[in-house]
Order: sequence, then C-alpha cells, then structure tokens
Amino acid sequence: MLNKIAVLLVLVPSIIVVMASDPDPINDLCIANSADNSFSCKNSSTATVEDFTFSGIKFPGNFKNWFFSKGVNSNDFPGLNTLGVSFVRADFDVGGVNVPHFHPRATEVVFVLKGKIYSGFVDTKNKVFAKVLEEGEVMVFPRGLVHFQMNVGDGHATILGSFDSQNPGLVRIPNAVFGSEINEELLEKAFGLSSKELSRLKKRWCVLFCFECQHNF
Ligand SMILES: *[C@@H]1O[C@H](CO)[C@@H](O)[C@H](O)[C@H]1NC(C)=O
Repeated sequence: MLNKIAVLLVLVPSIIVVMASDPDPINDLCIANSADNSFSCKNSSTATVEDFTFSGIKFPGNFKNWFFSKGVNSNDFPGLNTLGVSFVRADFDVGGVNVPHFHPRATEVVFVLKGKIYSGFVDTKNKVFAKVLEEGEVMVFPRGLVHFQMNVGDGHATILGSFDSQNPGLVRIPNAVFGSEINEELLEKAFGLSSKELSRLKKRWCVLFCFECQHNF
C-alpha cells in the first residue's frame, strides 16, 4: 500500500508536467486587466461584447517583404485571457515565405483561406512532412516543432491559424540566430561562415525582419 502511494506520488507530478498546457478557466469571464499587464481579471460587471470581439486582422498587414503575419494573443485581445486559445492571420505576396519558426507553447492548425501554399514541419529526427496545400485545406503543426510555408501560387495567399494557448510564443529561426546577440565567433564556427558571410546574413535578416521586430516582437 505504502509502495503504491509512493509510486503515485512520483508519477502524478510527472503526468501533470507531460500534460502541461494553459490552465483551465475558473470563472465565466476573466478579461485581462490591460491597466496592470498582469493578466488578472478585470471586474466582470464592466464586461461588454467589445471585450469578446477583435477587428485587428480584418485587412492584410503590410507585406512589402513578401509576408506579414499578425498573431492575435491575449496581449492584443484581452478577452482571450484564461481561455487557452489564440490565432493568427498571415498574408503572402507571390513567392512569399514564412521562414522556419516554432511556437514553444502551442500546437497550431492552419487553414488556407486563399491561394496555394507549400507548407510543412520537421520533427526532432529531422524528418520533413511537407506538401502543397490548396484553398480550403488544413494542416496541423505539433507543439514546438519547426514549421514553414511558401506561397507557390500565382497571386496573394492568406492563411488563418489557431493555437491551443492564449500566448503560444514565436521563435523565428533566422531571428534567433542572426537577429540576436549570440557571440559572432560562435556563429561563424557553428555554421562554417567567414565574418563577411555572417555579416551578409545578418544584413539579409534585417532587410526581412527589422521593421517587423520593432512592431511585433
Ligand atoms: C465590480 O463592479 C461593481 C459595479 O461597479 C461593484 O459593485 C463591485 O463591488 C465590483 N467588484 C469588485 C470585486 O471590485
């Protein structure tokens, strides 16, 4: 009996860790208090329908660099607070690329609203799962795995994605590598680059992302 209890005591916390996701809500409404940035609930007697609607992705963003995505998480849309979901709209110019990236806290399911998108992910054994999705098709990217997309159609493309977290997080591989302050000697050794090649890649990263970084990260 004691042994069984000991086994349970060891197992239960690890099961909880394996199942980790956003916590379940304990109230009908918990609109994040934007005033204190703490994700505490604002007084629910002041809630209106406006707290549960969002108009910020009605139109495509500025995708002058082939691609623009607007993630809508609980920071942008306080009504999502405690509900364990969020979403994203992404627009692609012809040939536009959504660079390899991952969401540390959520699985994502995407729907192709318009266009033709080469879409895929890579697992921890470096196996790639990718194909061209047509309008109306759906793909899922398992939590934390690197995924990517490219518009392979003749016109603009739009996708919508949803996440099982109110704040999935976004790590773009080029940003983490070339847009961060990782020691340059380390990067040159890791990728077999001369310092000239590294600065070319850093400049390239900046052309694509510096604008967005200031606004979106
Ligand atoms: C919430 O607001 C109502 C109406 O203004 C007020 O009566 C109530 O005391 C408030 N509740 C809290 C916890 O502040």
